Amino acid sequence: MDWSDYFAAAKKLGPNPFYAILDRYVGEEPGRVVELGFGAGSGIGWWVDRGWEVLGVDADQGMCDYARSIYGDRVEIFQAGYSEVDWGEVDVIAAVFALFFAGEDEFWATWSKIRELVKGGAVFGGQLIGPGDDWAVNHIALTKEQVEEMCSGLNVLYFEEVRRRGKTVFGAEKEWHVFHLVLGPQD
Ligand SMILES: C[S@@+](CC[C@H](N)C(=O)[O-])C[C@H]1O[C@@H](n2cnc3c(N)ncnc32)[C@H](O)[C@@H]1O
Repeated sequence: MDWSDYFAAAKKLGPNPFYAILDRYVGEEPGRVVELGFGAGSGIGWWVDRGWEVLGVDADQGMCDYARSIYGDRVEIFQAGYSEVDWGEVDVIAAVFALFFAGEDEFWATWSKIRELVKGGAVFGGQLIGPGDDWAVNHIALTKEQVEEMCSGLNVLYFEEVRRRGKTVFGAEKEWHVFHLVLGPQD
């Protein structure tokens, strides 16, 4: 598939504004982060620019080739499903507009890995989508109650539910129903 339009559009937009939110909850010292579903890789750039060690996991070959062409051996890139890779010891798990694209089994396997790592001290930042999102028809969508249940036993550092008419990265009109989440270990 030719992703050049996506890369061009994503490059113009730069890192998602959510990184600035997540940044409030990660330590001042750079550590090791896993970027799940990095897409055009602007999130990888966010961490690299701040001195972080980055492991990127994306199932798409075009995304992986593009990231390797930009970051070379400064980042470890794995072309695989999220849960298929051993992320090792990470301080942060970032999955920015990425998790809900996974198939059902992959999604829950990944969520369970995230929960274990967060319980052990890591910070998770990312999005889930709700039933009001246009993508709910063919992606994993969860109610607010389900999301709250998924976060039980973890420290919810940031939770924002957003419903709005907006656009996709390609500029197409879309109804968004998004849960922005930052999770950490319980005190
Ligand atoms: C919307 S893009 C991600 C956007 C990016 N994180 C950002 O901040 O701009 C979603 C990415 O997730 C990847 N993806 C979807 N399902 C996946 C899975 N199960 N395992 C690994 N990567 C997956 C896709 O290949 C795509 O690159």
